Amino acid sequence: MMEEQNKSRVQAIVTGRTLTEPDPRIEKRVIGACHTNVYLVISARGNAVLVDPADDAEQIIRWIQESGVRLRYIFVTHGHADHVLALEAVRDAFQVPVIISAIDAPRLLDPEGINERPYVTVPYKAVTPDILVQEGDELWLDELKLCFYGMPGHTDGSMAIVAGRTILTGDTLLCEGHGKTTLPGGDRERLIASIRRLLVDFPGDARVLPGHRQETTLQAEREYWKHH
Ligand SMILES: [Fe+2]
Repeated sequence: MMEEQNKSRVQAIVTGRTLTEPDPRIEKRVIGACHTNVYLVISARGNAVLVDPADDAEQIIRWIQESGVRLRYIFVTHGHADHVLALEAVRDAFQVPVIISAIDAPRLLDPEGINERPYVTVPYKAVTPDILVQEGDELWLDELKLCFYGMPGHTDGSMAIVAGRTILTGDTLLCEGHGKTTLPGGDRERLIASIRRLLVDFPGDARVLPGHRQETTLQAEREYWKHH
């Protein structure tokens, strides 16, 4: 039953207009000890979703203020330390809802699990997420339809955002590679299956914005994964 439901959710994404809708304006900063890609997904009217507040809250807050956008949401692709260390400070500064997958949500409530990473300098404090999403859920940001697409394997609840012909893949799919699967909840087989499913579910080309390293495209990744 669950599987049937998931299937229809995926179908809704694939047969929807997802990949032909307007593309968002994107701004990116590389922030923190792990060189995390932090993104602003911005609508034509200047409303924005912040994706993955790595660390260095001050820098992120200043960036948002200087960019002139109105922050509406914070989305966390997965609950790893290098994607959430600035979450509390940024959330407090802008008072906006925090979105994460229902499966990874408990990670945000577990400071111990996050603070055990060796690069943590300012300890993380628990943040209660406001909106829990699962695959197939959609969020409208003005003219932009943001679709949530599950990519488990890096963590159980890793979640991508599809907006227009742009896909933000968190740490599951990186440029010619993938995030590590050695931390709790990691599973290499599931991760590879998630990547292969993405490459089939979204035909044609799209811009792929990962959680680390440079951006890539679906076509480039299809070529790469043919041989890996
Ligand atoms: Fe990660």
